[in-house]
Formats: sequence, structure tokens, C-alpha cells
Amino acid sequence: MTEIKTVLQDYQNREREYLIPILQDIQSLIGFISPDAIAAVALHLKIPTSKVYAVASFYDQFKFLPFAKYRIKVCNGTGCHIEGSGAIYDELVKLLGGETRTELFSIERVQCLGACGNAPVIKINDKFYIAVTLEMAADIIKSIKALEDAP
Ligand code: FES
Repeated sequence: MTEIKTVLQDYQNREREYLIPILQDIQSLIGFISPDAIAAVALHLKIPTSKVYAVASFYDQFKFLPFAKYRIKVCNGTGCHIEGSGAIYDELVKLLGGETRTELFSIERVQCLGACGNAPVIKINDKFYIAVTLEMAADIIKSIKALEDAP
């Protein structure tokens, strides 16, 4: 809640047209838009919580759940897209049972990860995986699950 208060202090005496920048700042600080954040923003801007939620849920950029333990970023930059990152993303979602957020994993498409010469690229937490194939994607998920299942 301290982080949310800090953001709101930066928007003292601001009106509802600052709703999106406020939500962006909160998400960049805590990683998602929590119910507490929605309530605090509504109070701050003197608008209903339903309005805050309606605006936030309209935009794909806002997430309502924290990232999972393994945050998978699939590069959707031009170089990776040309090299098949869309199929990698689809495969990863398939491997997680059709979900983009599970207990262990969250998957998101992101812009260039800065390793275009090695496309397609994914990043899981701080680790890069380069020239990823569908088989590699399956192996990566399998090895993380095995690591988590180990006693
Ligand atoms: S386009 Fe994927 S790393 Fe740059």
C-alpha cells in the first residue's frame, strides 16, 4: 500500500484524466493492479471503483494478478516475430493448459528484449533463452516443473 500512496502523492490535485498514467505508474511499481490499488485510485480521483476497474480492464496493458514465480516474457519484436515467436507463445500457452497464468508461470508478450540476433528470444525471470524452438519451449517448461517437483 505504501507504493500506491507514493504514486498518488505524485498526482496531488489531479483530475480523472490522469487515471491511466496513475494506473501505469502503479503497475510499473507493484507489477499489477490490485484491488487495493483500484480502491485507492478511486478515492483519490473521487470516482467510483467500478469506473477505475472498467477503464483498467479495457486496456490489455493492465494486469490484475501478480506475476507468477516464473515470469515468461516472449519477445514480440519484429525480429522475433519473423522468426516465429508467435508460435512459441502459442506453444507455451498450450503447455500450460491453455492458460497465460498458472500457479507457477505467467506468460506475456513483450517488445524487443534486445537480443534480436538470436531470435526468437524468451526471458524467464532474469534468464534469456535464445533461438528458441517449439521443442526447446517444451523442454524448458518440463525442466522447470521437474525442478519444482523435486523434493
Ligand atoms: S526482436 Fe526479439 S530480441 Fe529484439
